[in-house]
Amino acid sequence: MNIIHCRDYEEMSGKAATLVIQEVERKKNLLLCAATGNSPTGFYAKLVEKSEKDKIFFDQLKVIKLDEWGGIPENHPSSCEYYLQTKLVEPLRIPPERYISFQSNPTDPAAECARIQAELDTQGPIDLCILGIGANGHIGFNEPALFLEPHCHIARLSGHSLTHTMVQSLNDKPTYGLTLGLQDIMRSRKIILLISGKNKEQIIQEFLSGKITTRLPASLLWLHPDVDCLIGI
Ligand code: F6R
Repeated sequence: MNIIHCRDYEEMSGKAATLVIQEVERKKNLLLCAATGNSPTGFYAKLVEKSEKDKIFFDQLKVIKLDEWGGIPENHPSSCEYYLQTKLVEPLRIPPERYISFQSNPTDPAAECARIQAELDTQGPIDLCILGIGANGHIGFNEPALFLEPHCHIARLSGHSLTHTMVQSLNDKPTYGLTLGLQDIMRSRKIILLISGKNKEQIIQEFLSGKITTRLPASLLWLHPDVDCLIGI
């Protein structure tokens, strides 16, 4: 794992954008898996700057949403869908045929997971996976547990996840999560892990110890051959 300590959030966002732009230059139609949350927001803004300067740069890019809060409306400002539509998908002009995305409020969540899994099996593996880490060590909604799920699944959200800034003020909290699984993530050709947030000091220490445990799902990334971990608090 390539650990890159950045001066601050701005430097982390810029470095991540440079890495992704290099990858897209190599492979225009790459499949990018996109996390939401605070850590990648500045980085997505840099990609948007690039797309404003070079209107056709992302004209073949494909995007898959990493995860979603289950049980809240799709167009709700707290949904991962709303986040990605406003910060990445619309500004980069990614059309629906190049975007794979869990619905946030499906009538049949298990069928929705099966639908996304089938899409990933056809269009994957992921070329470049953008991840953040929860203060409890989760990636996507793969929460700390005795066993981790390999593929798309309905996640039981931890109390920690429900305090995330995206949903903490909601009266009607998400009742579950929808997420890609660990094997789906680990099959990515390259992974960029962005770590930011004042509440992450403890988890950064544990993660950097390099010990691998399902109680810290992000620690499995130590088994992947190509991870850039950018830390910018
Ligand atoms: C969001 C996601 C989560 C976040 C994590 C860190 O799509 O997958 O695992 O990446 O909770 O969130 P921030 O970056 O807001 O600290």
